[in-house]
Amino acid sequence: MTDPKGGTGRRAGPRRRAENTVVLNHRSASHIPGIEPHRHALQVHRRLPCYRATPLLDCPDLAAALGVARVWVKSESSRMGLPSFKMLGASYAAYRELCHLLGSEPEWSDLAELRTALAPLGGLTLMAATDGNHGRAVARTARTLGYASRIYVPAGTAATRITAIESEGAPVALIDGDYDEAVRQCARDAGEGCLVVSDTSWRGYERIPAWVIDGYATMFWEVHEQLPDADRLIDAVAVPVGVGALASAAVRHFRGRARAAGARLIGVEPVGSDCVGQSVRAGHPVIIPGPHTSIMAGLNCGTPSRLAWPLVERGLDVLVAIDDELAREAMRMLSQAGIVAGETGAAALGGLLALRDGRQAPQAIKAAGLRPDAQILVISSEGATDAAAYEQIVGHPPA
Ligand SMILES: Cc1ncc(COP(=O)(O)O)c(C=O)c1O
Repeated sequence: MTDPKGGTGRRAGPRRRAENTVVLNHRSASHIPGIEPHRHALQVHRRLPCYRATPLLDCPDLAAALGVARVWVKSESSRMGLPSFKMLGASYAAYRELCHLLGSEPEWSDLAELRTALAPLGGLTLMAATDGNHGRAVARTARTLGYASRIYVPAGTAATRITAIESEGAPVALIDGDYDEAVRQCARDAGEGCLVVSDTSWRGYERIPAWVIDGYATMFWEVHEQLPDADRLIDAVAVPVGVGALASAAVRHFRGRARAAGARLIGVEPVGSDCVGQSVRAGHPVIIPGPHTSIMAGLNCGTPSRLAWPLVERGLDVLVAIDDELAREAMRMLSQAGIVAGETGAAALGGLLALRDGRQAPQAIKAAGLRPDAQILVISSEGATDAAAYEQIVGHPPA
């Protein structure tokens, strides 16, 4: 593995904005041939004991607030035993890499058989850098498979997030730097017997992050089972964006299949770490220097994933950067709809609120497909990952 260099981005100049911003992507294509997602991850996830589809909820009050016909929220507040969607990518990527090391995919039907099949590989340590959720998912995957793990977090990571990772049995290294620095340190420390399961990618390290994106596909296939006519019904999809891996899965699903080509895709980032939006604006990947301090901790990333960039560049129609107050407002609205969403989880809804109220509203609403008769899919990607912060913002503890 070569050292991560923070992607291929060029550094953006120092910049601090507090305003929500909207970037309309004039290069987006409605159908991108050759990126159709497969269902293999869904087949693997279904064999894991903790797997169950997460709910897809019809939210009429949110639809009324946004001025659209229907809002469907895919709530990832509890996914395979953890409070975010991240287990989908961590478990599938680790599984594929272990199969790769074995030389072929073994036959297995339950966890005991899988562990037996993996025994020839001996002991391993799974490693990852994280803002919280991905690292916890890697640590949980390691524990489930009987491996050790070691997780790297950036300076400023909330103590509750560190404790949650440690509760999975992983030692946590607190890095004196931002998320990108944690990614670099993790890669530097990976020695013999270590497997870095990163959700972001860099030159020379793309196989595992590609499988992370494949793993996220399960979430979108579930939507089809829950809403069989989803390809015809869904007019727009809003997703939170950190390094862009989740958004890439959305692009593959809604842009890679000709049948779904009508849906608009909206990516939402925090102001101050909107690396994908600024890259789309510039027409090439740019790095937004840290520190990144949004309460939307999972989105505090300054560098688009090298693997995600070509997909999000052509697949996302609108990028919105929102301030923390909109994330808080979205958390409260989701709570009233009966959905527990943490700061990062609520970001996608926050982005839609910004589109309605922003100065560019008419063009942005049109580009985002937010018509009065539209049906919108909102990805609420995490539950209350910090219960104390949740209570402070929403006014009551997570249910
Ligand atoms: C809860 C949650 N939502 C969304 C994201 C963004 O995903 P990506 O970094 O793939 O863009 C993250 C990333 O950590 C996350 O933890």
